[in-house]
Amino acid sequence: MSRKVAIVTGGASGIGLATCKRFADLGWNVISADLSHTSGDTAPEPDTRTVGVRVDVTDEGDIRRLRDVAEKLFGRVDTVVTSAGTADNAPIRHTTPDRFRRTLELNLVSTFAVVREFVDLLAGDGGGSVVTIASVSGLRGSVDRAAYSASKGGVVALTTQLAIELAGEGIRVNCVAPGSTLTPLASRAQSPEMQSAILQSIPLSRYAEPAEIAEVVTFVAGPGAGFVTGQTWTVDGGQSMTAGWNLAKERHDS
Ligand SMILES: NC(=O)c1ccc[n+]([C@@H]2O[C@H](COP(=O)([O-])OP(=O)(O)OC[C@H]3O[C@@H](n4cnc5c(N)ncnc54)[C@H](O)[C@@H]3O)[C@@H](O)[C@H]2O)c1
Repeated sequence: MSRKVAIVTGGASGIGLATCKRFADLGWNVISADLSHTSGDTAPEPDTRTVGVRVDVTDEGDIRRLRDVAEKLFGRVDTVVTSAGTADNAPIRHTTPDRFRRTLELNLVSTFAVVREFVDLLAGDGGGSVVTIASVSGLRGSVDRAAYSASKGGVVALTTQLAIELAGEGIRVNCVAPGSTLTPLASRAQSPEMQSAILQSIPLSRYAEPAEIAEVVTFVAGPGAGFVTGQTWTVDGGQSMTAGWNLAKERHDS
Protein backbone atom coordinates (compact mmCIF):
# COMPACT_ATOMS: atom_id res chain seq x y z
CA MET A 1 0.00 0.00 0.00
CA SER A 2 1.33 3.47 -0.85
CA ARG A 3 2.27 5.84 1.93
CA LYS A 4 -0.31 8.20 3.32
CA VAL A 5 -0.02 11.81 2.20
CA ALA A 6 -0.45 14.97 4.29
CA ILE A 7 -0.65 18.57 3.10
CA VAL A 8 0.49 21.04 5.75
CA THR A 9 0.09 24.77 5.10
CA GLY A 10 2.52 26.97 7.01
CA GLY A 11 4.83 23.95 7.03
CA ALA A 12 8.08 25.93 6.93
CA SER A 13 8.01 27.19 10.51
CA GLY A 14 6.75 26.63 14.03
CA ILE A 15 3.75 24.35 14.53
CA GLY A 16 3.45 23.53 10.82
CA LEU A 17 7.13 22.55 10.58
CA ALA A 18 6.88 20.33 13.66
CA THR A 19 3.77 18.72 12.15
CA CYS A 20 5.59 17.97 8.89
CA LYS A 21 8.43 16.35 10.84
CA ARG A 22 6.04 14.23 12.92
CA PHE A 23 4.13 13.01 9.85
CA ALA A 24 7.45 12.12 8.17
CA ASP A 25 8.54 10.22 11.31
CA LEU A 26 5.28 8.29 11.09
CA GLY A 27 6.13 7.30 7.52
CA TRP A 28 3.79 9.67 5.66
CA ASN A 29 4.68 11.66 2.57
CA VAL A 30 4.24 15.36 3.26
CA ILE A 31 3.78 18.47 1.18
CA SER A 32 4.73 21.58 3.13
CA ALA A 33 2.91 24.53 1.53
CA ASP A 34 4.34 27.84 2.60
CA LEU A 35 4.90 31.35 1.35
CA SER A 36 8.54 31.14 2.37
CA HIS A 37 9.45 28.08 0.28
CA THR A 38 11.41 28.92 -2.83
CA SER A 39 11.16 25.71 -4.79
CA GLY A 40 9.55 22.31 -4.80
CA ASP A 41 7.15 20.35 -6.96
CA THR A 42 9.52 17.41 -7.35
CA ALA A 43 8.98 13.98 -5.86
CA PRO A 44 10.84 13.58 -2.59
CA GLU A 45 13.87 11.33 -2.45
CA PRO A 46 13.10 7.94 -0.86
CA ASP A 47 14.55 9.02 2.48
CA THR A 48 13.21 12.59 2.33
CA ARG A 49 9.50 12.43 2.89
CA THR A 50 8.71 16.13 2.77
CA VAL A 51 8.55 18.32 -0.30
CA GLY A 52 8.18 22.08 -0.09
CA VAL A 53 5.89 24.03 -2.39
CA ARG A 54 5.73 27.80 -2.46
CA VAL A 55 2.08 28.74 -1.86
CA ASP A 56 0.33 31.90 -0.75
CA VAL A 57 -2.79 30.53 0.93
CA THR A 58 -4.63 33.79 0.30
CA ASP A 59 -4.26 33.23 -3.46
CA GLU A 60 -6.83 30.90 -5.01
CA GLY A 61 -4.60 30.20 -8.02
CA ASP A 62 -1.77 29.08 -5.72
CA ILE A 63 -4.13 26.78 -3.82
CA ARG A 64 -5.32 25.19 -7.08
CA ARG A 65 -1.71 24.68 -8.13
CA LEU A 66 -0.99 23.04 -4.76
CA ARG A 67 -3.83 20.59 -5.36
CA ASP A 68 -2.47 19.84 -8.85
CA VAL A 69 1.05 19.27 -7.50
CA ALA A 70 -0.28 16.88 -4.85
CA GLU A 71 -2.26 14.96 -7.42
CA LYS A 72 0.71 14.78 -9.80
CA LEU A 73 3.26 13.75 -7.14
CA PHE A 74 1.21 11.30 -5.10
CA GLY A 75 -2.25 10.84 -6.66
CA ARG A 76 -3.87 10.90 -3.23
CA VAL A 77 -4.29 13.09 -0.16
CA ASP A 78 -5.22 11.65 3.23
CA THR A 79 -4.97 14.70 5.48
CA VAL A 80 -4.92 18.48 5.19
CA VAL A 81 -3.59 20.59 8.07
CA THR A 82 -4.08 24.36 7.87
CA SER A 83 -1.36 25.93 10.00
CA ALA A 84 -0.51 28.99 7.87
CA GLY A 85 -1.56 32.00 9.88
CA THR A 86 -0.54 35.03 11.80
CA ALA A 87 -0.95 36.79 15.13
CA ASP A 88 -2.59 40.20 15.25
CA ASN A 89 -2.31 42.01 18.56
CA ALA A 90 -3.76 45.51 18.52
CA PRO A 91 -6.41 47.55 20.33
CA ILE A 92 -9.52 48.49 18.40
CA ARG A 93 -8.29 52.02 17.58
CA HIS A 94 -5.28 50.53 15.74
CA THR A 95 -7.35 47.88 14.01
CA THR A 96 -8.68 49.44 10.84
CA PRO A 97 -11.38 47.51 8.99
CA ASP A 98 -8.77 46.82 6.31
CA ARG A 99 -6.39 45.30 8.86
CA PHE A 100 -9.26 43.29 10.35
CA ARG A 101 -10.11 41.99 6.86
CA ARG A 102 -6.48 40.99 6.14
CA THR A 103 -6.28 38.98 9.35
CA LEU A 104 -9.54 37.21 8.57
CA GLU A 105 -8.35 36.59 5.01
CA LEU A 106 -5.17 34.82 6.15
CA ASN A 107 -6.44 33.00 9.25
CA LEU A 108 -10.02 32.16 8.32
CA VAL A 109 -10.84 32.57 4.63
CA SER A 110 -7.67 30.73 3.55
CA THR A 111 -8.56 27.83 5.87
CA PHE A 112 -11.90 27.52 4.09
CA ALA A 113 -10.36 27.91 0.63
CA VAL A 114 -7.66 25.28 1.19
CA VAL A 115 -10.06 22.69 2.61
CA ARG A 116 -12.54 23.38 -0.19
CA GLU A 117 -9.91 22.73 -2.84
CA PHE A 118 -8.99 19.34 -1.36
CA VAL A 119 -12.47 17.94 -0.67
CA ASP A 120 -12.59 15.86 -3.86
CA LEU A 121 -9.13 14.36 -3.34
CA LEU A 122 -9.88 13.57 0.31
CA ALA A 123 -13.21 11.98 -0.59
CA GLY A 124 -11.67 10.12 -3.52
CA ASP A 125 -9.87 7.64 -1.33
CA GLY A 126 -12.92 6.88 0.80
CA GLY A 127 -12.51 9.86 3.10
CA GLY A 128 -9.61 11.46 4.90
CA SER A 129 -9.22 14.07 7.57
CA VAL A 130 -8.75 17.78 8.04
CA VAL A 131 -7.13 19.45 11.03
CA THR A 132 -7.60 23.20 11.30
CA ILE A 133 -5.47 25.29 13.65
CA ALA A 134 -7.29 27.83 15.85
CA SER A 135 -6.07 29.22 19.18
CA VAL A 136 -7.23 29.56 22.77
CA SER A 137 -7.93 33.16 21.69
CA GLY A 138 -10.73 31.77 19.54
CA LEU A 139 -12.33 30.21 22.59
CA ARG A 140 -12.18 32.97 25.19
CA GLY A 141 -11.35 36.66 25.40
CA SER A 142 -7.87 38.12 25.75
CA VAL A 143 -6.28 41.55 25.49
CA ASP A 144 -6.27 43.64 22.27
CA ARG A 145 -6.99 40.85 19.83
CA ALA A 146 -10.27 41.70 18.10
CA ALA A 147 -9.23 40.55 14.63
CA TYR A 148 -7.18 37.57 15.78
CA SER A 149 -9.84 36.25 18.16
CA ALA A 150 -12.58 36.72 15.58
CA SER A 151 -10.53 34.85 12.97
CA LYS A 152 -9.77 31.93 15.28
CA GLY A 153 -13.32 31.76 16.66
CA GLY A 154 -14.36 31.57 13.02
CA VAL A 155 -12.01 28.63 12.48
CA VAL A 156 -13.65 26.77 15.39
CA ALA A 157 -17.15 27.37 13.97
CA LEU A 158 -16.02 26.50 10.44
CA THR A 159 -14.61 23.21 11.73
CA THR A 160 -17.96 22.15 13.18
CA GLN A 161 -19.80 23.18 10.04
CA LEU A 162 -17.44 21.31 7.70
CA ALA A 163 -17.44 18.24 9.96
CA ILE A 164 -21.21 17.96 9.60
CA GLU A 165 -21.23 18.72 5.89
CA LEU A 166 -18.42 16.30 4.97
CA ALA A 167 -19.18 13.42 7.34
CA GLY A 168 -21.28 11.72 4.69
CA GLU A 169 -18.20 11.48 2.47
CA GLY A 170 -16.14 9.93 5.26
CA ILE A 171 -14.09 13.08 5.86
CA ARG A 172 -13.40 13.93 9.50
CA VAL A 173 -12.76 17.59 10.36
CA ASN A 174 -11.24 18.56 13.69
CA CYS A 175 -9.52 21.60 15.12
CA VAL A 176 -6.49 21.99 17.38
CA ALA A 177 -6.45 25.16 19.50
CA PRO A 178 -2.93 25.74 20.80
CA GLY A 179 -2.12 27.91 23.74
CA SER A 180 1.09 29.94 23.83
CA THR A 181 3.71 28.01 21.88
CA LEU A 182 7.42 28.70 21.41
CA THR A 183 7.57 29.57 17.71
CA PRO A 184 9.00 32.44 15.64
CA LEU A 185 5.47 33.90 15.55
CA ALA A 186 5.30 34.12 19.36
CA SER A 187 8.75 35.75 19.50
CA ARG A 188 7.69 38.35 16.93
CA ALA A 189 4.32 39.17 18.48
CA GLN A 190 5.09 39.15 22.20
CA SER A 191 7.51 41.33 24.13
CA PRO A 192 9.53 39.69 26.96
CA GLU A 193 7.22 41.46 29.46
CA MET A 194 4.18 39.99 27.72
CA GLN A 195 5.73 36.54 27.72
CA SER A 196 6.31 36.63 31.47
CA ALA A 197 2.69 37.81 32.00
CA ILE A 198 1.47 34.98 29.78
CA LEU A 199 3.58 32.46 31.68
CA GLN A 200 1.73 33.38 34.87
CA SER A 201 -1.55 32.45 33.18
CA ILE A 202 -0.42 28.93 32.27
CA PRO A 203 -1.01 26.36 35.02
CA LEU A 204 1.81 24.17 33.67
CA SER A 205 4.07 27.28 33.89
CA ARG A 206 5.68 27.08 30.46
CA TYR A 207 5.04 27.61 26.78
CA ALA A 208 4.27 24.59 24.59
CA GLU A 209 6.94 23.20 22.32
CA PRO A 210 5.75 23.03 18.68
CA ALA A 211 6.31 19.26 18.78
CA GLU A 212 3.72 18.95 21.57
CA ILE A 213 1.09 20.57 19.33
CA ALA A 214 2.19 18.45 16.37
CA GLU A 215 1.76 15.27 18.39
CA VAL A 216 -1.93 16.05 18.92
CA VAL A 217 -2.43 17.25 15.33
CA THR A 218 -1.05 14.01 13.87
CA PHE A 219 -3.04 11.87 16.32
CA VAL A 220 -6.30 13.65 15.46
CA ALA A 221 -5.47 13.33 11.77
CA GLY A 222 -4.80 9.62 11.92
CA PRO A 223 -6.72 6.38 12.34
CA GLY A 224 -6.43 6.43 16.16
CA ALA A 225 -9.03 9.21 16.11
CA GLY A 226 -11.18 7.51 13.48
CA PHE A 227 -14.45 8.13 15.34
CA VAL A 228 -13.71 11.76 16.25
CA THR A 229 -15.05 14.63 14.19
CA GLY A 230 -16.14 18.24 14.71
CA GLN A 231 -14.09 18.61 17.90
CA THR A 232 -11.70 21.32 19.07
CA TRP A 233 -8.69 19.92 20.92
CA THR A 234 -7.23 22.52 23.26
CA VAL A 235 -3.49 22.03 23.85
CA ASP A 236 -2.56 24.82 26.22
CA GLY A 237 -1.09 23.65 29.52
CA GLY A 238 -4.39 24.56 31.16
CA GLN A 239 -4.24 28.21 30.00
CA SER A 240 -7.87 28.37 28.89
CA MET A 241 -9.06 27.26 32.35
CA THR A 242 -7.75 30.46 33.94
CA ALA A 243 -8.94 34.06 33.81
CA GLY A 244 -6.01 35.03 31.56
CA TRP A 245 -3.54 37.89 31.66
CA ASN A 246 -5.89 40.80 32.16
CA LEU A 247 -3.90 43.98 31.95
CA ALA A 248 -0.67 43.01 30.22
CA LYS A 249 -0.24 44.77 26.90
CA GLU A 250 1.21 43.14 23.82
CA ARG A 251 3.40 44.75 21.22
CA HIS A 252 1.32 46.60 18.64
CA ASP A 253 2.50 46.20 15.10
CA SER A 254 1.32 49.08 12.94
N1 LIG B 1 2.66 30.25 18.43
C1 LIG B 1 1.58 30.37 19.21
O1 LIG B 1 1.66 30.73 20.40
C2 LIG B 1 0.22 30.05 18.62
C3 LIG B 1 -0.85 29.92 19.53
C4 LIG B 1 -2.11 29.62 19.03
C5 LIG B 1 -2.30 29.47 17.67
N2 LIG B 1 -1.26 29.60 16.82
C6 LIG B 1 -1.54 29.44 15.39
O2 LIG B 1 -0.76 28.38 14.88
C7 LIG B 1 -0.52 28.60 13.49
C8 LIG B 1 0.98 28.49 13.24
O3 LIG B 1 1.62 29.49 13.99
P1 LIG B 1 3.18 29.42 14.36
O4 LIG B 1 3.29 29.94 15.73
O5 LIG B 1 3.73 28.10 14.00
O6 LIG B 1 3.71 30.58 13.38
P2 LIG B 1 5.02 30.68 12.47
O7 LIG B 1 5.12 32.12 12.10
O8 LIG B 1 6.18 30.04 13.13
O9 LIG B 1 4.61 29.83 11.18
C9 LIG B 1 3.59 30.26 10.33
C10 LIG B 1 3.97 29.87 8.91
O10 LIG B 1 2.90 30.31 8.06
C11 LIG B 1 3.48 30.81 6.86
N3 LIG B 1 2.58 31.74 6.21
C12 LIG B 1 2.20 32.98 6.64
N4 LIG B 1 1.40 33.55 5.73
C13 LIG B 1 1.25 32.66 4.71
C14 LIG B 1 0.55 32.68 3.48
N5 LIG B 1 -0.18 33.74 3.08
N6 LIG B 1 0.63 31.58 2.69
C15 LIG B 1 1.36 30.52 3.06
N7 LIG B 1 2.06 30.44 4.20
C16 LIG B 1 2.00 31.51 5.02
C17 LIG B 1 4.77 31.50 7.31
O11 LIG B 1 5.67 31.65 6.23
C18 LIG B 1 5.25 30.54 8.40
O12 LIG B 1 6.14 29.58 7.85
C19 LIG B 1 -1.08 30.00 13.18
O13 LIG B 1 -2.35 29.84 12.59
C20 LIG B 1 -1.20 30.65 14.54
O14 LIG B 1 -2.21 31.62 14.59
C21 LIG B 1 0.00 29.88 17.26
